[in-house]
Amino acid sequence: MFSSIKAKIILFYVAVLFLVLSVLGIFLYFSLNQIVYKFLDAGLLAKAEAIASLIDVDRNDIDFNLSDDVMWEYRSPRSGNYFQVRRADGTTLAKSVSLGTTELPPTGNDSRTQFTTIRLNGRTARLINFPNISRGESGSAEKRRMHGLVIQCAEDIASQLDLLEDFRSVLLGGVLFVMFLSASGGFIIARKALAPVLDISETIDRISEHDLSTRVSLEGIPPELRILAHSFNRTFGRMEEAFNKQKRFAADASHELRTPLSVILSQSEITLRKERTAEEYKNSLKAVVQAALAMSSTVRKLLTLTRLTADKVELKLETLDVKELINDAARLLRPLAEQKGVGIDTSQMSAALLVHGDREKLLELFTNLLDNSIKYNIPGGQVHISAKKETEFIVCEIQDTGIGIPESALDKVFDRFYRVDHSRSKEIDGSGLGLSICREIARLHGGKIEIRSKEGAGTALSVYLKGMDMQLSSNKQNRS
Ligand SMILES: Nc1ncnc2c1ncn2[C@@H]1O[C@H](COP(=O)(O)OP(=O)(O)OP(=O)(O)O)[C@@H](O)[C@H]1O
Ligand SMILES: [Mg+2]
Repeated sequence: MFSSIKAKIILFYVAVLFLVLSVLGIFLYFSLNQIVYKFLDAGLLAKAEAIASLIDVDRNDIDFNLSDDVMWEYRSPRSGNYFQVRRADGTTLAKSVSLGTTELPPTGNDSRTQFTTIRLNGRTARLINFPNISRGESGSAEKRRMHGLVIQCAEDIASQLDLLEDFRSVLLGGVLFVMFLSASGGFIIARKALAPVLDISETIDRISEHDLSTRVSLEGIPPELRILAHSFNRTFGRMEEAFNKQKRFAADASHELRTPLSVILSQSEITLRKERTAEEYKNSLKAVVQAALAMSSTVRKLLTLTRLTADKVELKLETLDVKELINDAARLLRPLAEQKGVGIDTSQMSAALLVHGDREKLLELFTNLLDNSIKYNIPGGQVHISAKKETEFIVCEIQDTGIGIPESALDKVFDRFYRVDHSRSKEIDGSGLGLSICREIARLHGGKIEIRSKEGAGTALSVYLKGMDMQLSSNKQNRS
C-alpha cells in the first residue's frame, strides 16, 4: 500500500507535520496549564494571607477577627471558595460557611506552603495549605510556628479545567485539520511532481522494435527529471543506431551471399539445359567452385567478425615479434604480389618489436592489410612495410602506391561490407569485411588502426599495438 513513491511522500510529509504540530501543541497546552495554575495558586496564596492577617494570635489563645468584607465570598457553597483554619494536630478552629459539613483534607505536611488539586463534593478544587508563620500581633514567627496554625483555602477550578479542555480540543482539531490539508496538498504536489515520470514511461511504452525513433519530449519536464529523460533519449538513440546497423548488416550479408549463390544456380541451370561437352562441364563447374569459394570466404569472414565484435573470442596470448608476423604475412601473399607485379619491401623494420598477442589473429590482421595493398595496387606498384617503437606503441605502417581512396570514403572503409567505387571493386574480389575484422583485432589487443590515403597516389595504414613493456607494466598495475 505504501510502496508507491506518492504514498511515501505523503506519509513522510504528514508524519513530519504531525510530529512538529504535536510537539508545538503539547508545548502550548502545558504552557497554558502552567499559567492557569500559576494564577490560581497566586490567588489562593493572596486569600490565605488575607485570612492570616485577620487572625489574632495570643500567647494562650487564638482570636478570630474575620472581617465581613473578606468573608462574604465564602458564604455560599455556590461561590466555589472555601477556607478552613486548623491546628497541626488536626483540630479545626474555623471554616467557611460554604464548606457546610465537609472539611478540607489535611495535606500531611504542615511545615511549608503547599498547593494540591483535590476532589471536593464531587468537584475538582485547588487547595493551598498555608502554615501561618508570617505575622502576629505579638510574639515572634517562632511562636506562631509553635502554635501550629494552618490556613487552608480552596477554590473550585471547574471553569479553568473546562478552559484547558476546550483549548486541548481546539488544538487537536487544528492539528487534524492542518494534517488533512497537508495530506491533500502533499497528494496534489506528489501527483504533479510525478506526472512527468508517467509521461516518460508512456513514451517509453510507445517505443517498440518497429519505431525506435520516438523520443521523450523535454517540454515541461522539471530539470531533475531532464537528466533521466536525456539518458533515456541517449539510450534509445544508441539502440536505434545499433538496431539499424544490425538491420543493414543482415541486408548486406544476404546481398553478398545472394550474388555468388545466384551465379551457382544460373550456371548450373544453364549447363543442365542440354547435353554439354566435357570441356563445357569443366568450365561450368570451375565457375560454380569459384562462386562457392567466394561464398565460403564471405561466410568465414562474417563468422570471424561476429565472434570478434561479440567479444566472445579468447585471445591465445603469447610473446610475438611483430617483424616476424609481418614477414610471415608477406610470405603468404608473395604469390599474389608476383601475380600482380607488385613488389613488397620489408627492409624498414626495427628488430625485436615485441608484443603480447594472439598469433593467428594478428597474422590475419597483417594478411588482410597486405592483401588490400596488393589488390588495390597498380601493376609494377610497391608496398613498403615499416615497423618501429613509438612511446608505448609498436607502430607498423603498410604503405602502397596503389589506386588510393577518395577522401569522402576514408571514414567508411572500416564499415562492414563497405567497398569504395563499386564499378572498380567489381573486378577485384572482396566482400568489404577485411578492414572491419582488422579494426576489431587491433581493438582486442588494446590498439588501433589509422588510415591515410590520396586517390591515385596510394594508401598508408598505421597499426598501433601496445608494446610489451607497456603491457607488462599495465598488467602489474592491474594486479596490484
Ligand atoms: N590499400 C588500399 N588501397 C585502396 N583502397 C583500399 C585499400 N584498402 C582498402 N581499400 C578500400 O576499402 C574497401 C574496404 O576494404 P576491405 O579490406 O574491408 O574490403 P575488401 O578488400 O573489399 O574485401 P575483403 O577484405 O573482405 O576481401 C575496399 O573495398 C577498397 O575499396
Ligand atoms: Mg580487404
